[in-house]
Amino acid sequence: MTEIRRIGGRIGAEITGVDPHALPFDELNGLLLEHKALVFRGAGLDEDGQLRFAARFGELTGAHPTVPSVHGRPQILPVDGDEGIRSNVWHTDVTFVLTPPAVSTLRALVVPPYGGHTLIANSAAAYRDLPGPLREFADRLWAVHTNDYDYVRPGPTAAGAEEYRRVFTSTRYRTAHPVVRVHPGTGEPGLFIGGFAQQIVGLSNTESRDILRLLQAYVTRPENLLRVQWNPGDLVVFDNRITQHYAPDDYGDLPRVLHRVTVAGDVPAGVTGERSRIIEGDPATHYTPALSAAS
Ligand code: SIN
Repeated sequence: MTEIRRIGGRIGAEITGVDPHALPFDELNGLLLEHKALVFRGAGLDEDGQLRFAARFGELTGAHPTVPSVHGRPQILPVDGDEGIRSNVWHTDVTFVLTPPAVSTLRALVVPPYGGHTLIANSAAAYRDLPGPLREFADRLWAVHTNDYDYVRPGPTAAGAEEYRRVFTSTRYRTAHPVVRVHPGTGEPGLFIGGFAQQIVGLSNTESRDILRLLQAYVTRPENLLRVQWNPGDLVVFDNRITQHYAPDDYGDLPRVLHRVTVAGDVPAGVTGERSRIIEGDPATHYTPALSAAS
């Protein structure tokens, strides 16, 4: 029997007893919009199954604008701790391009016996938590998101991390997005920042850092978080337009491998309706479908 159970006060539902393909799309999408992150326990999908599941939400992106895919699978990104891929920075996936993914899916292949969880934050709840004057201030701000910063930091596998960073930044992207993004499906405003947001438009580096830190602290409040403890075969889908996530690097040299597949998104819009713009780099059409399909 299908069971849908809230697993966080402000974000997250766990779904058991159903093949993820069997839920009618309207119900599936409604659950995602409501809960922002869905955990399918023991989904047991293979690579084709994950691709088919993600494609229910729309056209898929490539694996990543700069990072190679799983061999022979151009739309699957390997997330492998041994390769130095440890996303222990709060972020929203690929916000350095003009059209970041709308939806992300993660599937667990190998998980450590402890640690290696994924934290997912509700950035709409963070926006609602802001005191009124801070909310009005944030509404007017824009941030420059870039892939060219120390997103990947040397950890236990320093050499791998160094190489990963070289590949990650092999093409430099800089995009200005509204700090408050209006969700295209629900009209809900949320803080749209995270690790790739490195500068507030019109402010100095120091001022930017202080303001981003202040706003980011609301995103990562424990109240706004879901902690996913993985078992092999689990599948998680989250709404990349209104969440951030973080993978604690707390499993030493134990193996951890997830596969990520993402769904193409639109050009973000702020509270006035003004849309994001490219500052440096191209629209990354080798990675994500053309803007006409997404805007
Ligand atoms: C990611 O940032 O897409 C990967 C998250 C994870 O490793 O849990």
